[in-house]
Amino acid sequence: MTAEQKLSFSHLLSSNQINKEDIDIIFDLAQQYQQQFSSGTRSFNDCQDYILATLFFEPSTRTRFSFESAMHRLNGKIISLEQGLSSSVKKGESLEDMGRVFSKYSDIVVIRHPEMSSAWRFAKYSPIPVINGGDGANEHPTQSLTDLYTIKQTKNKLYNLTIGIVGDLKNSRTAYSLIKLLSLYPNNKFILISPQEIQLKESHKEKLRNNNVDIVETDEIESQINNLDILYVIRTQKERFDNKAEYDKVNGKYRINNELLKNSKEDLIIMHALPKIDEIDPEIDDNKKAKYFFQAEVAVFVRMALLNLMKDSKVRF
Ligand code: NCD
Repeated sequence: MTAEQKLSFSHLLSSNQINKEDIDIIFDLAQQYQQQFSSGTRSFNDCQDYILATLFFEPSTRTRFSFESAMHRLNGKIISLEQGLSSSVKKGESLEDMGRVFSKYSDIVVIRHPEMSSAWRFAKYSPIPVINGGDGANEHPTQSLTDLYTIKQTKNKLYNLTIGIVGDLKNSRTAYSLIKLLSLYPNNKFILISPQEIQLKESHKEKLRNNNVDIVETDEIESQINNLDILYVIRTQKERFDNKAEYDKVNGKYRINNELLKNSKEDLIIMHALPKIDEIDPEIDDNKKAKYFFQAEVAVFVRMALLNLMKDSKVRF
């Protein structure tokens, strides 16, 4: 399928770059892939002759594999770095230099790295499009697009929604990006549920309030659950805690189970970027409200659309 329309960005580093028109373009194409796939088409020639580099300096299952699966479905090629262990970064090479060099080996890059702003450093001198697959606790824009696509597919709208986000809002890179994207649409309300220690960062809250985003904070889920259209659950991001005692203090405060959901809305959907550890009882997995495996499934179509739309982006410095 030819990507006729143009996105407003050439690198995708932050959800701030994404506007409603971009979302429509990406979702239209993702939906075409999804429909054709479900009617039996297994592969498309849309990235033939293109090489994707996936550079992962942090663990990943879904992000890396769904990007790689997406590129295979588009008949493109992949070069890959897992955990950065086999690269010259181990010898001290800078991300800026890597960014310069990878444009000679590939046509588009996805990078995940534990340091905040790493994707910006990599992209600084990269003449080919760079996608941020997660920079520390900062941003993960393609996860947010996948989340939004899941909401569109299951709720059939992106407005007039009450969204509860529960768990480690401080260290999550998916929550803030998702709030920003959903607040492009009218009348969405956010209930942020977390222990005080892992609330959304003050700087983020201030930006949201300045943009008149409707956010309410609480540490209690029981009184909120029955009003929600969406419950977005976040894993306690263990790798971002200074020590185990701090992690143990906040982990396990919430556990989503059938008892908690007994009076929730009939059409509530439960989302999670995965991996889920113990914040969702496995008894929920078979509940029709659980959409997290669907979320992981549609990630491939969203990423196929992005790769196709971004592959020829001319980077503007
Ligand atoms: C998320 C991430 O890596 O930020 N996972 C993902 O990309 N599917 C969420 C998480 O690790 O908890």
